[in-house]
Amino acid sequence: MNKIKIDPQRTVAALDRNVFGGFAEHLGRCIYGGIYDEGSPLTDEQGFRTDVIAALREMGMPIMRYPGGNFVSGYRWTDGIGPRAERPARPELAWHTVEPNTFGTDEFVAWCRKVGTEPYIAVNCGDGDMREARDWVEYCNGTQNTYWANRRRANGAEQPHQVRYWGIGNEVDGPWQMGMKTPQEYARACTEFSKLMKMVDPTIKLVASWTSGWFDDWVERGQLIMEQAGTMLDYMSIHWYVGNRDDDFAAYMALSELCEERLTASAGLLRAMSACLKLKNPVYLSVDEWNVWYRTRGDDQLAEVYNLEDALVVALQMNAFIRHADMVKMANIAQIVNVIAPLVTRPDGLLRQSIYYPFAAISQAAGDTALDLYWEGDTFEGGGHSGLRVLDVAGTLANGREVALFVVNRSQAPAEAEIVLQEGAFAGQGSATIINGPDVKATNSFDDPEQVTAREAPLSPQGVSLVQVFEPHSLTVLRLPIC
Ligand code: AHR
Repeated sequence: MNKIKIDPQRTVAALDRNVFGGFAEHLGRCIYGGIYDEGSPLTDEQGFRTDVIAALREMGMPIMRYPGGNFVSGYRWTDGIGPRAERPARPELAWHTVEPNTFGTDEFVAWCRKVGTEPYIAVNCGDGDMREARDWVEYCNGTQNTYWANRRRANGAEQPHQVRYWGIGNEVDGPWQMGMKTPQEYARACTEFSKLMKMVDPTIKLVASWTSGWFDDWVERGQLIMEQAGTMLDYMSIHWYVGNRDDDFAAYMALSELCEERLTASAGLLRAMSACLKLKNPVYLSVDEWNVWYRTRGDDQLAEVYNLEDALVVALQMNAFIRHADMVKMANIAQIVNVIAPLVTRPDGLLRQSIYYPFAAISQAAGDTALDLYWEGDTFEGGGHSGLRVLDVAGTLANGREVALFVVNRSQAPAEAEIVLQEGAFAGQGSATIINGPDVKATNSFDDPEQVTAREAPLSPQGVSLVQVFEPHSLTVLRLPIC
């Protein structure tokens, strides 16, 4: 039998809710037709889709990265402010479209406030310069009688937008990036961008662009950025996308190992470099693009259709973030709507794809503290790994009163587990949210929207133990009050 042991006093770290962040890029139908759909009967007076706002609130996303992505490396933010009729349309070179600029900084911040999410703006460190970056900070956060702060006021925002989180560039390590930079070039640029942006507003939090390609130079790259800019940085950003390219379910379920390896290695480097710099707190990890993405590569719209196995892999990635809560302090699923996304819009409604369900369930149940759980039991082989635990498990504690367990059954058979509380006792009725579907390839569509969905079941643990049978190919989120 599988066994999961919970000691509420054995914790990893405080869980930063920013690990449940999102990402919105000017790409495909994410902005236009996704979050902003002027003329649609499903929008509010500002042209924002209210069904998308409601679904994002369900997902509990505290932070939203914007405006890209590859897009930002050619973006002139000044095109997206002021009277709409005067905003220029520009060729958009990252995704080969035309950017109308009818949605820009002020709309984004207004939309964030409606969603209840913090804006996180990535600046152009591709074909853009540090003056544009520092001006953008002044436009958003300036409080004095200065040019860009006054331009914001003239555009209707008397009070500063108070954008706290700023990223310096996007995937600068990738040859696909406009203005790609060598490790040396980016370390220099990042240092000077950071310096100027912090001169404008010393309270902002900065995120450096570390690695997305995981090329051979990623360690050198990380080291150089930290050596030169580490004292000004709050986070270093890493990206990854995964997928079942070989249609091999076991190998797909073994991708947890890749997440573990990357998080452990990059956290180690940040800890070492932070110690060298004698920083009070380490520079943390921000996984500010992560998701499943492989079927739609080369397709500009990136309208990925997700199935149940993708939903399980989303849960595996979230579990990895929780297990590394000491160093992963931000993570942003890429993206939120229409583009490699949990949500899909069409003129008459909204679809929740399979991956919406694990995200919402884990985000809603997660407590303030990540737990260091013990688990053992059945194993499987996949993707060149052996001895992998069939049940992938992470857990949190909320206010010292409720344990939440996130259990992915990575097999096609039921898996029984005994859950044991090592301190205190279970206190009354709990609940289970089970995310599953008829088979691992099941998908949701507008015609059949609930193939993969979540259902609730009550739990009645006795004393300090509970036996639970986890359904084949499922995620179960258990909420267990304790005393
Ligand atoms: O999210 C889609 C794209 O993936 C982003 O624009 C880019 O940063 C990454 O390569």
